[in-house]
Amino acid sequence: MTHPASLAPLASAGGTPVRSEYLPLAVPWIGEREKQLVLETLDSGWITTGRHAHALGERIAQRAGAKHGIAVNSATGALHLALVALGVQRGDEVITSTYTFAACVNVIEHVGAVPVLVDIEPDTLCMDPRAVAAAITPRTRAIITVDYAGHPCDYGTLLPLAERHGIPIVEDAAHALGAAWHGRPVGSFATITAFSFYATKNLTTGEGGCAVTQSDELAERIGLFSLHGMNRDAWKRYTAAGSWYYEVTVPGYKYNLSDVLAAIGIGQLERFDEFQRRRRELVALYDRLLSAIPEVRRPVTRPDVEHAWHLYPIALELERLSIDRARFIQELRAENIGTSVHFIPIHLHPHFRDTLGTGEGRFPVAENAYRRAITLPLFPRMEPRDVEDVCAAVEKVAAHFRR
Ligand SMILES: Cc1ncc(COP(=O)(O)O)c(C=O)c1O
Repeated sequence: MTHPASLAPLASAGGTPVRSEYLPLAVPWIGEREKQLVLETLDSGWITTGRHAHALGERIAQRAGAKHGIAVNSATGALHLALVALGVQRGDEVITSTYTFAACVNVIEHVGAVPVLVDIEPDTLCMDPRAVAAAITPRTRAIITVDYAGHPCDYGTLLPLAERHGIPIVEDAAHALGAAWHGRPVGSFATITAFSFYATKNLTTGEGGCAVTQSDELAERIGLFSLHGMNRDAWKRYTAAGSWYYEVTVPGYKYNLSDVLAAIGIGQLERFDEFQRRRRELVALYDRLLSAIPEVRRPVTRPDVEHAWHLYPIALELERLSIDRARFIQELRAENIGTSVHFIPIHLHPHFRDTLGTGEGRFPVAENAYRRAITLPLFPRMEPRDVEDVCAAVEKVAAHFRR
C-alpha cells in the first residue's frame, strides 16, 4: 500500500522535499581522540612516516588476522605494490572484475600486464568464479578479487581454484575492513589484501591504505617498494636512533603514509567496532523499511559471510517504473538525498574500451546491475531518522513513477 506521504508533490515539481537539509552519501566521523593524536603528532617534530604509520600497519594486520601490515597512502598504492611484489610484469595477465573502481585495473596496466575482465554474480555483484575459471590461461599471474560493498567474494570456490593453478589472489578489500568469510577475517586468507582508508571508507585517514599478508618475503618486498626501494629502516635516518647510510636495491615508489594521517587511523581503529555496530543497525533498518517497496531490491548477504557494510547498494526493479535510474537519482537529489552509483563497469569507460577492445554487451550481468544500481547513504554518524528519510524519499519517488 502506498503511504499517503508518498503522494505529496515531488520536490522537483515544486513540492516540499522529504528533508530540509541535504543528506550526503557518506560523512567521516572524526572524534576527539583522532584530533588529540593528530595535534600530538604535529607537535612531536615528526610528521612523516614513523611510529604511527608502523603501528597502524601492525594493528590493521592484527585485526585482519595477518602476520604483516604495511600502511601506505592508498589502496591503489597497496594494489600496485602487491603486483610489483609478486613480480607481475609485461606480458602477464591479471584477472579482475569489471564491476570495480578504475584503480584495480589501472595498477595492472602500470606493471605492464594485461587486465582480463570477468563478469559478476547477480546477487552479490562480486566476480563470478566460473568466469574466473574460464579466463585462466598459462599467462595468468594473479587474480584481483573485489569484495563489493564489503561482501567477501565466493572464496569457497576461488581459493581452491587459485591454489590448483598456483595463482596468487590479491584481494581488493577497499570496502571490506571488518568483513569475514566462514569466520575468517578478510585479510587472513588471500596472498595479499589491500584496504582503503579513503575519506568515505569504514575507517578513514582522509587518504590512506594498507597491504597485509602472511608472507615474510612479500611483506619485505612491499615495504621496500613502498619507499623508493630504500632498505627497511631508512625512514629513521633523521632520528637520533637512525643512520645517514641507506641503500637502494630496487626502483621503488613513494607510497608511504605520513604519521599525521596515520594518527587519525589509530584513533579510528579504537572506535571501529562501534562504527561497524552502528552500520549493522542502520542496515537492519534499511532492510526492514525497504522491504515494503516493491520497486527496490535490497543487497544480498550470503550465509557464512560477515558483511563490512561499506555501501548499501539497492537495485531498481525498472520493469515496475516509468523512469530510469538516472532520473530516480535526480528525483532523490531534489528530495535532498545524496546517492551514488557503484560502479560504472570498467569495460564501458572510454580508456578500457580503447585498450581492451571492450564495450556494451560484453558483460551482461554487470551491465544489468549498473543500469539499476543506486547506492544509498550509509555512515555511522547517521541516525535512524536519516534512514527513515531516505526510505520515505525512495518510496515517494517510486510511488510517483509506479507503472
Ligand atoms: C573497489 C575499490 N578498489 C580500490 C579503490 C581505491 O582506493 P584508494 O582511494 O584508497 O586508492 C577503491 C576506491 O574507492 C575502490 O572502491
